[in-house]
Amino acid sequence: MKAHSSLRDPLDGHHSAVWDKRADHWDHASMPGLGRIADAVVRQAGPISNRDVLDLGAGSGQLALQLAGEARSVMAVDFSAVMLGRLKEKAAELGIDNIETVHSSIEKLDLPADSIDVVVSNYALHHLTDPEKAKVVARAARWLRPGGVLVIGDMMFSIRGGSADRRIIASKVAQLARRGPGGWWRIVKNSWRFVIAKDECPASLESWKDMLGAAGFNVVCAERVVAEGGVVGGRLPDL
Ligand SMILES: C[S@@+](CC[C@H](N)C(=O)[O-])C[C@H]1O[C@@H](n2cnc3c(N)ncnc32)[C@H](O)[C@@H]1O
Repeated sequence: MKAHSSLRDPLDGHHSAVWDKRADHWDHASMPGLGRIADAVVRQAGPISNRDVLDLGAGSGQLALQLAGEARSVMAVDFSAVMLGRLKEKAAELGIDNIETVHSSIEKLDLPADSIDVVVSNYALHHLTDPEKAKVVARAARWLRPGGVLVIGDMMFSIRGGSADRRIIASKVAQLARRGPGGWWRIVKNSWRFVIAKDECPASLESWKDMLGAAGFNVVCAERVVAEGGVVGGRLPDL
């Protein structure tokens, strides 16, 4: 499996630098719900022994390291070189040698058709716009072999959504407010982001199901794991 990509878009440079800075703290700063979502992604990926797996936005390896124990190979893609460095260090400590790291933006990744069995992603795709998400899902359908599986865990609500989505945002804001001044500062920062939808662009569970269906997947799971996050999974028809 050979990946082609380039990192010429200056926007990629800007966002990957943000993640390079977060890398040292990422494992510790993870939200408690994040581990539950990662576990749900691994569970929904199903049996992966002898399968080739692709992890989009792999970060420091929460999914990739878990899956590598059983999979034939794992390709871990991320545009933060520092995050990938952490992943490689951890893999070496654990004696894992079947993870290939690919330094690329998800949007520019290109793989041969029918070259992988399982595509997973955890808490990375909300950084893409909705049309970019749909393109990635369509490309994943091309990269996957017949019967292949795509499982996405992410924050899943729509900023412009209905009352359920507004309730999720309100509970998040209340949670932050209880943390005192540090939390209040984050509310100010995040509200601004929500207004201009600059850095984070979560899609609702329903939109994810529609995107998977439009790309030819049969949706096999759509699970809200925590208030603001969930997992959606699809399977391509067998030939
Ligand atoms: C919230 S972290 C999640 C990392 C890991 N999947 C986990 O579960 O811990 C998001 C990761 O996605 C990567 N990322 C975000 N947008 C990306 C993009 N457009 N292309 C490649 N990587 C991206 C970041 O560098 C970061 O490592």
